Amino acid sequence: MILVTGGAGFIGSNFVLDWLACGDEPVVNVDKLTYAGNLANLASLEGDSRHIFIQADIGDAELIGQLLRQHKVRAVVNFAAESHVDRSISGPAAFVATNVNGTFNLLEAVRAYWGELESAAQAAFRFLHVSTDEVYGTLDREAPAFTETHPYQPNSPYSASKAASDHLVRAYHHTYGLPVLTTNCSNNYGPYHFPEKLIPLCIQNALAGEPLPIYGDGQQVRDWLYVSDHCAAIRRVLEAGSCGEVYNVGGWNEKTNIEVVQALCSLLDELAPRADSRSYAEQIRYVQDRPGHDRRYAIDAGKLQRELGWRPAETFDSGIRKTVQWYLANPQWVADVTSGAYRDWVASHYQSTP
Ligand code: NAD
Ligand code: DAU
Repeated sequence: MILVTGGAGFIGSNFVLDWLACGDEPVVNVDKLTYAGNLANLASLEGDSRHIFIQADIGDAELIGQLLRQHKVRAVVNFAAESHVDRSISGPAAFVATNVNGTFNLLEAVRAYWGELESAAQAAFRFLHVSTDEVYGTLDREAPAFTETHPYQPNSPYSASKAASDHLVRAYHHTYGLPVLTTNCSNNYGPYHFPEKLIPLCIQNALAGEPLPIYGDGQQVRDWLYVSDHCAAIRRVLEAGSCGEVYNVGGWNEKTNIEVVQALCSLLDELAPRADSRSYAEQIRYVQDRPGHDRRYAIDAGKLQRELGWRPAETFDSGIRKTVQWYLANPQWVADVTSGAYRDWVASHYQSTP
């Protein structure tokens, strides 16, 4: 049995679905169900006894301890986090609460449980912490991509809180010998991506006839990875990674934001043409930049390839086509998530942009 945190979010739910599609080892899924947690992502697992969902905060060390013991968990994969950079700028407290204090409490629960295990189970146990390339800060245009030894230089409250959690995880290995693994991944995209993030937001706005908001000059670069490739990387690191090691995960797919949005528009022009036959690109609008906006992220995933043989299966062209097709095939999912808190957030965030 493994325990996954944040398994109702974008990457966590993709991971749970992929995990149970690849094997029969059950999953205890602990998720607080914040605005970003959506059980509809896991609807296909209804009635599947291999998936046990518990609504809880990772900061509830007592409950986590109980679950670890009750289910004799052999590994924890920690996805739970506040994940949206813009929200961390307007309200950083939740990011410190979950990403820093929540991870700390989770580590404490895991450390106590691990300490009670017999030596063979202790040696086999793993705590895999899912982190981000944003902890490394920003890169100049020509600089080499981030390796695992790149200095930490987080620039947003989000990335600073993730950096803090990475340091705690590292310290629990160094000090207590907890068998940890850390993955630092680039931008994911794919099914169940909450439409506050660039790609799903632009697909949804395009179809709704709304503006496609590009921050600043749109020349910021991100390294895009299709989510199922990230899930495969995590499975591989969990299976064969060396304890205490960090593995960068990336798509070898650097794109400027404007290139990404133009690619989306071209696909939508082909797959769901506008009634007036004009291009969705006409809906692109340049808006006020994100404060402290990192210019470029790029991941060197060479270590993961050399040591564990992982490489992404999808190119950007294949992955973005699958993504657009998924959103077109799942309008009800989009309609459901766009009600309530998400709509309030979009209204308050974009009302001040020109
Ligand atoms: P997400 O925001 O879609 O999902 C986060 C999930 O965590 C939600 O289901 C939410 O309900 C849950 N959660 C939040 N606070 C919690 C708490 N205190 N206790 C229990 N559950 C809680 O995020 P995501 O995009 O799926 O990212 C998952 C992880 O991967 C995060 O740690 C993020 O930092 C990291 N990451 C994301 C990306 C990306 O491009 N999305 C890239 C690299 C790393
Ligand atoms: O790099 C990994 C990170 O990728 C993860 O750690 C984060 O959890 C995840 O949210 C993502 O962060 P970004 O800030 O890169 O993702 P986002 O989709 O918010 O933005 C992608 C780029 O697009 C970024 O340069 C900001 C820009 N952008 C975003 C939005 C929402 C726009 O131009 N317009 C927008 O409306």
